[in-house]
Amino acid sequence: MSTQRLFFALWPDEPSRARLRVTARELVPPEARAVAADGVHLTLLFIGSADAARRACLEQAADAINGSGFTLTLDRAGFWRKPQILWLGCSAQPAPLLALVQGLSAGAEQCGVKTETRPYQVHVTLARKVRKGPLAVLPIEPIVWPVERFCLVESHTDPDGVRYRPIRFWSLGAS
Ligand code: 2AM
Repeated sequence: MSTQRLFFALWPDEPSRARLRVTARELVPPEARAVAADGVHLTLLFIGSADAARRACLEQAADAINGSGFTLTLDRAGFWRKPQILWLGCSAQPAPLLALVQGLSAGAEQCGVKTETRPYQVHVTLARKVRKGPLAVLPIEPIVWPVERFCLVESHTDPDGVRYRPIRFWSLGAS
């Protein structure tokens, strides 16, 4: 049976994506592996490999989410040395975002997904294989991203690297 590699994410609207592109150009060192500008996202919940039945179950779980929209203000950049990731994050984590992650995790567990046990860290990965990055978290010119929907994304690896394709969106209620 064929499977897909899936995750739930926030997918930037075009103005936010354009801002993310500018910030990535400023911060990502040339030798690092930048996430393709059209694939930058914020992961809500990593699922991994899923067959059609599990995907249907996950979509039903997402249908049942009763979340509200919010504004995500990305105002800082950081570097995790061990996974060699350069990321953007926010100093104030919106409660509706954390509620959304919790709701999706609970739903995914009902579908038999083994979810992450480490605490959720709000971040947008800009680049991997970053050997040297800032040792402290740095303030950046804030990127104000109005979040009105979330999505299920398929990840697949082709010769040029990993590609991300949103396969379904769900609207969040008015904030
Ligand atoms: P990251 O942003 O921290 O790299 C698709 O692979 C997305 O799912 C990535 O953006 C990645 O988050 C996230 N992810 C979380 N856990 C993962 C795992 N075990 N394997 C691959 N990706 C994972």
